[in-house]
Amino acid sequence: MKGQNKPVVLSVANQKGGVGKTTTAVNLSVALAQNKKRVILVDLDAQSNSSSLFCPKEIEALSSIHSVFQNKKNLSELLQETRIEGLKIVVAHRQLAELEATLAGSPDGFFRLQDSLKTDGIQDEQTGLPFDFIILDCPPNLGLITVNSFISSDFLLIPLQAAKFSMDGLMAILDTLRSIQKRFHASIQVLGALFTMYDHRTVISQAIVDSIKEYIPVFQTRISRSVLVEEAHLTGQTICEYRKKSKTAQDYFHFTKEVIDGIV
Ligand SMILES: Nc1ncnc2c1ncn2[C@@H]1O[C@H](COP(=O)(O)OP(=O)(O)O)[C@@H](O)[C@H]1O
Ligand SMILES: [Mg+2]
Repeated sequence: MKGQNKPVVLSVANQKGGVGKTTTAVNLSVALAQNKKRVILVDLDAQSNSSSLFCPKEIEALSSIHSVFQNKKNLSELLQETRIEGLKIVVAHRQLAELEATLAGSPDGFFRLQDSLKTDGIQDEQTGLPFDFIILDCPPNLGLITVNSFISSDFLLIPLQAAKFSMDGLMAILDTLRSIQKRFHASIQVLGALFTMYDHRTVISQAIVDSIKEYIPVFQTRISRSVLVEEAHLTGQTICEYRKKSKTAQDYFHFTKEVIDGIV
């Protein structure tokens, strides 16, 4: 893994909504924590979907990631406990959506998240130990918050659905990635594409996977579609907690193992 005290920072991104970014970010975070990793999940989406799974009560903007983008607080001041041992969350706030314009007009607007990670010696207060992973759940666009996320990250993970237009979306995100790597000398690398809501029975799904593989690595594990995911969310849980023996939860556990093995 990276330097001893530095967490691995991973963006979960795709400009399309509803492709499984949040579901992937939350289940990866839970499964990493269950693998004894110390994890911070950061919700970067104004819709606060991952926040609401771990922090049902509303949290003021000042105690959310909003403060980082406003240069008011560092990430370590914003960590909220979760019910999962080893997992902390930094919640989002609906006001995040209004920040894009402010960030665009400011010279350090691209770097605020990265600055807050750099200046912080982020440690787990209870154990005094550093964190192993920071998982960034990106909004469904390639705006400045996503750019901040890419600039801060070591790796990019792209959840994709095996659908007709997934290739177009992928090209757009890879273009953004390349220009960020070039313009900002950012070290972010693609870790891989993860197929979500996957239907193992259709031939067309496999054909789409094969075409994506020509461009970027694809995780061997594909996340099966199941109504249990929605059911879990309705009860305020992740599928990895709600039905850990289900096929979809097992898929997420296998995928997490691939992530751990892929970056050591
Ligand atoms: N494997 C799955 N099987 C069935 N439904 C899923 C699965 N993964 C995600 N969903 C559902 O699809 C919707 C979009 O997923 P979400 O993770 O919120 O996507 P995004 O963050 O990209 O917008 C949600 O309602 C979620 O419950
Ligand atoms: Mg989401």
